[in-house]
Amino acid sequence: MQQINLGIIGGGTVGGGVYQAVQRNGLLMTSRLGVELSIVKVAVRDLSKKRPVKIPKSLLTTDWASVVEHPHVNLVVELMGGTTTAREVVLKAFKLGKSVVTANKALLSAHGEELFLTARQFGANLYYEASVAGGIPIIKVLREGLIGNRITRLYGIVNGTCNYILSRMKNEGADFAEVLADAQRLGYAEAEPSLDVDGYDAMHKTGILASLAHGFWVNPKSIHVEGIRAVTALDIQFAGQLGYTIKLLGMVKKLEIPGKGCGPVQVSVYPTLIPNSHVLASVNGVFNAVYVRGDVVGDTLYYGRGAGQDATASAVLSDLADAALDLKFGTKSRIPPFVPHEREGAVLPIDQTVSRYYVRLSVADRPGTLARIAAILAKAKIGISSVIQPEGHQGEFVPLILMIHDATNAAMAKALNRISQLAVVKEKPVMFRVESFD
Ligand code: NAP
Ligand code: HSE
Repeated sequence: MQQINLGIIGGGTVGGGVYQAVQRNGLLMTSRLGVELSIVKVAVRDLSKKRPVKIPKSLLTTDWASVVEHPHVNLVVELMGGTTTAREVVLKAFKLGKSVVTANKALLSAHGEELFLTARQFGANLYYEASVAGGIPIIKVLREGLIGNRITRLYGIVNGTCNYILSRMKNEGADFAEVLADAQRLGYAEAEPSLDVDGYDAMHKTGILASLAHGFWVNPKSIHVEGIRAVTALDIQFAGQLGYTIKLLGMVKKLEIPGKGCGPVQVSVYPTLIPNSHVLASVNGVFNAVYVRGDVVGDTLYYGRGAGQDATASAVLSDLADAALDLKFGTKSRIPPFVPHEREGAVLPIDQTVSRYYVRLSVADRPGTLARIAAILAKAKIGISSVIQPEGHQGEFVPLILMIHDATNAAMAKALNRISQLAVVKEKPVMFRVESFD
């Protein structure tokens, strides 16, 4: 029976999970694929480190290059993270004609175009199922399952750490820092957790999904991103009273220009108020969900654990199976890893995006305050759909919640800037967008 020899770079949360999963289900995979998976070497940074998943000492090395170059290794699995050495690892493998499996969305976001091109140049493949939405096979969905569709909408809760934090803040009133520490302990967070909480990890993933869905490489710099640090317990509570849940949402919307057909694509990541009646509002904890609308299939939904050892290992195993079959049958890019097919794809600048808004102001509790705020919005032709001044707040300044009808981001930002300069308004206004999923 053919043997596929794996050289794994990284024996941490995901690398340890893959080692463990191959021990557990390697034989099952062999019986299904007719190929034996064998781990030849695992590169780590520190040989003396205590590892929750025990990897035999004989497999470990600190020299990643020796793993990639190892004459028996015919598939490289990059699970080290980061974008500098990881890029070297992947390029080196390709130049040796070896295909690569990676879970590294930061790497793909920063260097995807170069990596896909180099893989093709050297007749290698790049597999990246684990890079987006943990255990949910969403890359396969877009590349294979929905290949016959134009993707008109894609909404994703794609960062497990943020969803875990927001869910616990909502359901238990838990403190942000405390829950983040739990997410780190559970292996959900990135080595640099600001990648999670500042929205960059979701941006990397949303960019990958947008590129796959629309066939042009989405430059991460064109993706508007806001993280969850600005989401307070107060906003979670007010949103709840209004019938919404706040989620960090990745969004890819193909816009129609009346009379012209297809327009640019909105690609963005920000905390969003989702109506509680929408299925994405009930995706809690470390779970992710991706909601995809295709022009043929209609609405579809994919749900599962978005981070952590086992969920991610499952996605890596799926790539190992694809790679093993490609090696077994000598197929190259049977399903191309990424096919650019849109020549003039463009991302809509955030200023031009249109949405509804939730705005929380801290205002002087005296007559005339609301009239001044409403006058600024009216002048900007921005409509208010509801106003709430929750009772029970004491003091000179009290919260005022405004729900705003559709407006462009530019108009809203300008109006809020003017509102913030009013003497009756204390503190910077808080603004979140509200999604209607239409
Ligand atoms: P991790 O626990 O920090 O593991 C990183 C591993 O890489 C460690 O074993 C580390 O060695 C090793 N390493 C780092 N630099 C190295 C070097 N120069 N040479 C050799 N080994 C090196 O990270 P992780 O959570 O497993 O994440 C790995 C990748 O998977 C990242 O790209 C991440 O974004 C992605 N990912 C993670 C998850 C998740 O839930 N954690 C989910 C999906 C994707 P030591 O162990 O000796 O420090
Ligand atoms: N840190 C990432 C998350 C890991 O929390 O979603 C999975 O990609």
